[in-house]
Amino acid sequence: MGERLDIILFGVTGFTGKHALGYVHKFTSDKGRHLTWGVAGRNEVKIRTILTNLEKETGDTSISQVPIILADLSDLQSIQNMSQKARLIINCCGPYRFMGESVVKACVEAGTHHVDVSGEPSYMEKIQLDYNEKPKKRNLHC
Ligand SMILES: NC(=O)c1ccc[n+]([C@@H]2O[C@H](COP(=O)([O-])OP(=O)(O)OC[C@H]3O[C@@H](n4cnc5c(N)ncnc54)[C@H](OP(=O)(O)O)[C@@H]3O)[C@@H](O)[C@H]2O)c1
Repeated sequence: MGERLDIILFGVTGFTGKHALGYVHKFTSDKGRHLTWGVAGRNEVKIRTILTNLEKETGDTSISQVPIILADLSDLQSIQNMSQKARLIINCCGPYRFMGESVVKACVEAGTHHVDVSGEPSYMEKIQLDYNEKPKKRNLHC
């Protein structure tokens, strides 16, 4: 396995993902930070269009070099592969009660930090109950 990216933003084609993309770009390119990042999703054409739009908006030509990782929630292997490629996954694919757990699980198994923006109480409680001890032992934030 090659060196991990610092951050992968998963679900960049959605409403939340598009918003998060601007913040990830700004955060990683702020002075003094040398963070590597990539984007993930299931539709490469859509992802490329979104990156091109961000490049036009910001004038940052390095955006065309941002790695794209193809990952589909109906293909567990692709989720595991994505999780192994970063130190942190930011997951913007929801609704989380249907789509969130496999990403958390893959991250815990891969030793990868995980963040999502869920406001779904039953999902949050389930994940807190089922994925508490193992990440703590490995010093992971989930
Ligand atoms: N806590 C809060 O305040 C807050 C605020 C906003 C949103 N949210 C939550 O954020 C989540 C996302 O909301 P949204 O409005 O951004 O949804 P959305 O616009 O429908 O975006 C959903 C994303 O999930 C991706 N996706 C769907 N099925 C997939 C699959 N099988 N494999 C890979 N990717 C898949 C979509 O990719 P495609 O483009 O390829 O379909 C898209 O990128 C929701 O759970 C929502 O509740 C929370």
